[in-house]
Order: sequence, then structure tokens, then C-alpha cells
Amino acid sequence: MRRPLVAGNWKMNGTVTSVEALVTGLVSADSPSCELLVCPPSVFLAQVRAGLSVAGDEEKIGLGAQDVSQYESGAFTGENSADMLVEFGCRYVLIGHSERRQYHGESDDAVAAKVERCLAVGLRPIVCIGETLEQRRNGSVLTIIAQQLGALAQTVAREDWGRFDIAYEPVWAIGTGERATPEQAQEVHAMVRSTITDHGDSEDFTRILYGGSVNDDNAKALFEMADIDGALVGGASLNVQSFMSIAECAG
Ligand code: PGA
Repeated sequence: MRRPLVAGNWKMNGTVTSVEALVTGLVSADSPSCELLVCPPSVFLAQVRAGLSVAGDEEKIGLGAQDVSQYESGAFTGENSADMLVEFGCRYVLIGHSERRQYHGESDDAVAAKVERCLAVGLRPIVCIGETLEQRRNGSVLTIIAQQLGALAQTVAREDWGRFDIAYEPVWAIGTGERATPEQAQEVHAMVRSTITDHGDSEDFTRILYGGSVNDDNAKALFEMADIDGALVGGASLNVQSFMSIAECAG
């Protein structure tokens, strides 16, 4: 059984004061039955962890990072290692978000190397994939998704295919207010599901989240689709009420 996951990607937002308010709001809200995760900027990880643990809420709300180095340690200025993230209480890490691919030239191979590094230390990756508007317009959505997953298939061992989650985020729907229809999303999710089944032994453990302008108005219809197991939420995760309403819809 795949327990739905609703993850908040705070991106590069927040101040010490606003993060404190957000964490206080989240821990005092009623728990939904889905799994909840927040991914703050790395400088706030310790603060968020402390806020969750004071409330005894580390189990209710998991902590994740937004990126990780593919290397173990050493001269990689500006990077955080997978071991560091584990030490700071992270259970999850986003890998290959389209903003990393677009602004930092992150390739499918780098994404696969990061996934390997995380699996080696017991950190659960959420691997982000998705097509650009141009790729959707020229009909290459499924080819692009297959390419992005192909790099993982070459690196990740069959028995490890239940040890990460995937977020399908069409690039044109991120932060634009324009989301994929539930049917458009389901089409890609079904293809991702069958790829997971082909490459791994444990498709029941890999969740496929949808991301891109998810909010409390559109979440329910998305979650009704057979292969949508939750959401990766950007903008709406910065508001306690919106984030918790989305989580409610996930069950
Ligand atoms: P958005 O971002 O919800 O603001 O579109 C989603 C994401 O980038 O993960």
C-alpha cells in the first residue's frame, strides 16, 4: 500500500521569523492521515527540526532538503553531503528539481549519481522529472520522461527501486498557476508506474507525486487519479492553511 505523501518545497523563501511562524502553524494544525514533509532551504534545517521536535512532531511532519551533493565529502564549495543531511534529521531530499536542472545545469546522470549517494546513507530521494512547454507542444512528453527515468535505470539496482519516490512536475506548470489537468497528469503517472514495474521489484513502495501549481482548489481532482500518490507543493506550502487543506484532500 502506498501511503500518500504531501511535500512542501519552500524553495528560497523565508526568514528566521517567518519560518518560526510557519512551523508553529504546521505543528498546531490537525494531522491529516497522509504523510507530510517540509523541505526548507538548508540554512533553516536545524531551526525547522528543532521546531518540530519541541512539539514532539518529528513523526507527524518529516524534514527534507532541496538538494544534495553527489559526492561524499571534500572540496565542493557550497554543497551539502547526504551524510550531513541525515545528521540534521532529514529523511528525504528533493533531487533534480527543474530549477536545479535549468539554472544549475543538472543532468540526468548527475541526478542518478545523487540518488545513489542518498541510498547509500539511507536518505530517501524524491526524484523530480517533467517536460518543458516546448517538449509538450512537440509531442515528446513520454520520450523525455523515459529519458529522465532511463538514467536512473542504469544506475539504481533493481532491489532499490522501492527506496525513492518520484515527482512529476511539468516545467510549464511550476509557479505559473497553470497546472496539468488530472487526465494529463494521470497519463504520465501511468507511464512512470509501468517504468517502475519494469525496472524494480517493489512498485508498491514508490510513490509518484504530482507537482506544479497544486493548491487547495485543484488538489482533490488530482488525487482522485489512480496513479497520483500525493503532491509536491511549492507556493501553496508557504501558507499553513493551504498546505493543510491540500493534505486533507490526500487523505
Ligand atoms: P509550485 O511549485 O507549486 O509553486 O508550482 C512546485 C514545485 O516547484 O515543486
